[in-house]
Amino acid sequence: MKIENYELKGESMPIITYPNPVLSAKAAPVTGFDSQLEKLVQNMLFTMYHAPGIGLAAPQVGLSQRVFVLDIDYDREVVTNSSGKDEVRMSNFSPMVLINPIITGTSGSMTYEEGCLSVPGVYEEVKRFKSIHVKYQNMKGEFLELEADDLLSICIQHENDHLDGIVFIERLSNLKKNFYKKKILKDKKK
Ligand code: CO
Repeated sequence: MKIENYELKGESMPIITYPNPVLSAKAAPVTGFDSQLEKLVQNMLFTMYHAPGIGLAAPQVGLSQRVFVLDIDYDREVVTNSSGKDEVRMSNFSPMVLINPIITGTSGSMTYEEGCLSVPGVYEEVKRFKSIHVKYQNMKGEFLELEADDLLSICIQHENDHLDGIVFIERLSNLKKNFYKKKILKDKKK
């Protein structure tokens, strides 16, 4: 599940924001497990780390494909370098990539304050499953499974929702959902 010997490299991709229709579309399964996919994953990780975020799904960079990356525990610090400028240093990467994931088991529930790179500025508590079992493919196309709890479980459920065209504000109460939808549309017009 984890990418071994990860090195931070690639290019930042523009992050698509709500309500772009690509974020509401059901993404198509990944079929080509080739160098193009490898490149995409590398660029998605690079984009996620620099955003910064803990998860990023392909629809968020405009590609309607069933793949997402995540890393829930890397270190990030802002340090002042020798020329007096602030510099972001990141280390201890534990990147993961899940391709064509299917959540096959769930248990318990928990709420966690979520945010999303595609919905900047919105942080709200969402209720999700505490534990999940997931089947997925890695970059070689091999079939794997994993158990996830707590933050990892929340993050996988949030990213997996993106593959089904669901942005986390859709999981809020009607009152909050409508409030944010109106607010976002109003802010975009400014
Ligand atoms: Co998101």
